[in-house]
Amino acid sequence: MRIGPYQLGGHFTLAPMAGITDAPFRRLCRHFGAALTTSEMTTADIDLWQTAKSRRRLDLDLDAEPRVVQIAGSEPASLATAARLCVERGAQIIDINMGCPAKKVCRKAAGSALLRDPLLVEQILSSVVAAVDVPVTLKMRTGWDRERRNGVQIARIAEAAGVQALAIHGRTRACRYRGNAEYETIAQIKSAVGIPVLANGDIDSAEKSLEVLRLSSADGLMIGRAARGRPWIFRELNHYFASGEPAAPLANNDVRDIILGHLSDLYQFYGESTGVRVARKHLTWYCTGLKNADKFRSRVVRVKTASEQIRLTRTFFGAAAGDVYMAA
Ligand SMILES: Cc1cc2nc3c(=O)[nH]c(=O)nc-3n(C[C@H](O)[C@H](O)[C@H](O)COP(=O)(O)O)c2cc1C
Repeated sequence: MRIGPYQLGGHFTLAPMAGITDAPFRRLCRHFGAALTTSEMTTADIDLWQTAKSRRRLDLDLDAEPRVVQIAGSEPASLATAARLCVERGAQIIDINMGCPAKKVCRKAAGSALLRDPLLVEQILSSVVAAVDVPVTLKMRTGWDRERRNGVQIARIAEAAGVQALAIHGRTRACRYRGNAEYETIAQIKSAVGIPVLANGDIDSAEKSLEVLRLSSADGLMIGRAARGRPWIFRELNHYFASGEPAAPLANNDVRDIILGHLSDLYQFYGESTGVRVARKHLTWYCTGLKNADKFRSRVVRVKTASEQIRLTRTFFGAAAGDVYMAA
């Protein structure tokens, strides 16, 4: 799959997830074979870029190429300005968020709320495409609600505006995260446009990934929640896609070392105090399904220093159930 000048090295990409897909997590997923990763969404309101949070979200220094920055907003001119500034800071692809149903985003008629207003979608996408000389991509849902599943219309508008790839979450905005994702609308979109399409929603195993590729005819897939606590899912998906066989499970010690490496990257990126706090949620996901996870979780979410967090992590994951990692 190709986006503008960038030939991706695989079919499986990491979905942007605010609060999760920070630079350390993106690095980890790329290490395990994610073909593309995207920053957490950044507001198009550049007056808010001075906060530590926004500054970190725009920190692209160590990102693998192509560096993708996602922006969210509702005014064509501010999105265009934000896109230009992101490119100046090193973004190689600009992704526009029209997939997020979060209230904070939708109240300002950004994110998936824009799907209700095709004219504004056209204005936004045309403005951003005209503002930058890098590829612009769009992350969207299948429509506003089940009655107005206008994904095909939006996708055609996007292609005509010069958008170079689409990622589609197989739910409407009204569905939020309820029910199961459906891939039929994604297949309709794929056959209505000539640009690459990534299918997204509820893909959590190698078998499911092949099923979604078949049902949607998409060029690639985007994996979100299933990568939490399991960044090596990209290795599993790539292996299954290439060989039709499940990848060998990771050994306990490998998992322990991957997690310790992740912690170290978090401390370096955020500093110790914030790094320890951010690491708690990742550790909670890493231990899901393991023996004595509750006990480990309740202890590790309380610790305040890196050394204590490392000590508990080393002990727990070094001794986790069996010889191989059986979680998830
Ligand atoms: C915690 C969380 C944060 C998210 N943040 C974003 C975001 O910043 N931008 C975006 O386009 N989608 C965001 N999403 C949506 C995901 O990219 C993805 O479309 C959705 O989770 C469905 O995929 P999945 O079933 O593989 O998780 C977020 C999802 C979650 C769970």
